[in-house]
Amino acid sequence: MPKPLFDTDLRIDAPGPRGVPIVNNLRLIRESPRYLLNRIGPFDAQPVVPVTAGNGSVVVVRGRAGVRQVFTDNASFHRADGLLDLPPGRPWSGMFDAVITANGGEHTRRRKLLMPAVHRTALDHYTAVFADTFERSRFAGANDEPFELVRECLRVTKANMMRCLLGLDDGDGLSAFADRIVRLAAEAADPRVLLFKRDLPWTPYGRWLRRVAGAYDQLALLIAERRGGAPRPDALSILCHAVDEDGDRLSTEEIAGELHGFFAAGFETTAMTLSLALVTLMGSVDPATDGPGADPADPAQLDALVKESQRLLPAVPITLPRRVTRPVEIDTSPPIPQGALLFLSPLLEHRNPAVFAEPEVFRPARWIGGSGPKQYEFIPFGLGPRRCLGAEFADLQVRTTLSLMAERGLPGLVTTRVDYGTVNGVTAGPTRPIVVRPRAGGWSRLTGTVTDVWKPVR
Ligand code: HEM
Repeated sequence: MPKPLFDTDLRIDAPGPRGVPIVNNLRLIRESPRYLLNRIGPFDAQPVVPVTAGNGSVVVVRGRAGVRQVFTDNASFHRADGLLDLPPGRPWSGMFDAVITANGGEHTRRRKLLMPAVHRTALDHYTAVFADTFERSRFAGANDEPFELVRECLRVTKANMMRCLLGLDDGDGLSAFADRIVRLAAEAADPRVLLFKRDLPWTPYGRWLRRVAGAYDQLALLIAERRGGAPRPDALSILCHAVDEDGDRLSTEEIAGELHGFFAAGFETTAMTLSLALVTLMGSVDPATDGPGADPADPAQLDALVKESQRLLPAVPITLPRRVTRPVEIDTSPPIPQGALLFLSPLLEHRNPAVFAEPEVFRPARWIGGSGPKQYEFIPFGLGPRRCLGAEFADLQVRTTLSLMAERGLPGLVTTRVDYGTVNGVTAGPTRPIVVRPRAGGWSRLTGTVTDVWKPVR
């Protein structure tokens, strides 16, 4: 019998939002930006904020000292079990076992075996793919028709992941396959799947398990093909041929789990990061020049733009949950009970006024010159031994695509209402369509919930 995700009997002697624990916990997961800003934000003086006052089932850790403690102490903070456990003994039982879910020695082993796929030499090949995908995209501006920004960013990042990670082209008709893989993790966060784990043909959980099995079969087929072929530059081929110094290698089940993990962790996060960088750029103005808030054709400003948009509107507003393995104090907090689910929040950390003056203002210039934030104060990719394994891949993809856009002409906003919220799992981004015109440039005054989070125009 799988373990329950939340143990609402746990207690912590700390103030927090009022309400029913199970309801608040689900709201944190399903509407994280709003819940974090409105309900957890007011408790900013506390190093540990329970999601419901006095209840120890789910807590959010705040501040540099706590962030550092959680990111560096993998023994006290395990990746949460009970969230994505699959029934044992089937070929597909390991589809959610990956570096992203592993703990202890198994986590270290997997990270080591995955490194060649995200190593600098692999990135060189990926850069050429990113540029080619850009040329095929609406952003390259073969025609002047308006298009929907987020859908196009998703198309670009999906093509890049399929080409770089799986060595497949969109033209192979496998784009729906990538969608199916990505949806598995998001569907697992559906309360009907999450809370009623009965493997029967008619339950949402049972139907979801069938989809997991189907995705595994397709991945296993691809893995067999790559193992039999000569080495290629895609991540799948690199993983099929990777052997560490002790002769250890990843099995078919393990590679399937890792590829699934890469798609779940990397596809929408990258697309939302790209979309949000464009939204902040197109929706901001530099009061000195009355022009756009940054010029991505300039490498220093491109760097500043990417960081500033990740600071203000992170695509991952809360990290993946960790399970507390022993009663543990953070800073001056009362002990967090063993078994609690713990989150860190890039969204809240990036809005600390002691670190970022006027945190709600979009100001890329804060990243140019000056000393910048200290370690553990800016955490869009996490940090420490669990830092995002795809950070360089994602960053290079976003920067390559934005700088090519700057060369060709930036898109301009047609719609100006932008809402920022949870789009899937822990990923946040624009929640309603945003129409843009290719190579139109300029900037627009934005409305919508996005302006609750930042002040685009001063
Ligand atoms: C801009 C896009 C991305 C963002 C914002 C992002 C963010 C993050 C964050 C915050 C974590 C740490 C979570 C934690 O400590 O709980 C993480 C972990 C991870 N990410 Fe990413 N990610 C992105 C893209 C990618 C891509 C493209 C891949 C794969 C190709 C990827 C693979 C992973 C993996 C495997 C982990 C788990 C590492 C571990 O537990 O050791 N991510 N990511």
